[in-house]
Amino acid sequence: MEKTFLMVKPDGVQRGLIGEVVSRFEKKGFKLVAAKLMTITDELASSHYAEHKGKPFFPKLVEFITSGPVFAMVWEGEGVITTSRQMMGKTNPQEALQGTIRGDFGLIVSKNVIHGSDSITSAEREISLFFNEDELQVYKKDSDSWIY
Ligand code: PPS
Repeated sequence: MEKTFLMVKPDGVQRGLIGEVVSRFEKKGFKLVAAKLMTITDELASSHYAEHKGKPFFPKLVEFITSGPVFAMVWEGEGVITTSRQMMGKTNPQEALQGTIRGDFGLIVSKNVIHGSDSITSAEREISLFFNEDELQVYKKDSDSWIY
């Protein structure tokens, strides 16, 4: 089953949005298979955002993502990569539709509440950067049979 990496960023943690974010993905029907509150090191931030090295916003992005705890998660379900990106909304909260996480809770691009993998390749890479294989739970949920 498809998996993705999602992360409530430091602004979302500080604003008490962990429960709101988790609740949206749970209610949608996706399955939480790993989660932890953690502080990202400069090294992990540089690896995670490696593709953006050299862009003007890169130093500020690393400074921000390492500035306080994040809530890192792995979610599983049919089409979870595409659907979770839709649920997050556009990167810039000013362009994100109401009803999406960034549209409902974000104001500026540099503090946009949540990160989510944008492809199967990046999901695999990001999950393995943040979690060991034995931290991913394999389990059945009663609701699975009502969804699939
Ligand atoms: S790009 O250049 O189009 O590839 O960049 P984009 O996909 O829009 O954004 C890449 C990540 O950088 C964050 N971002 C910023 N952070 C701080 N300041 C500014 N100005 C800024 N612009 C973009 C953006 O939220 C993306 O992070 P994630 O964690 O993937 O959302």
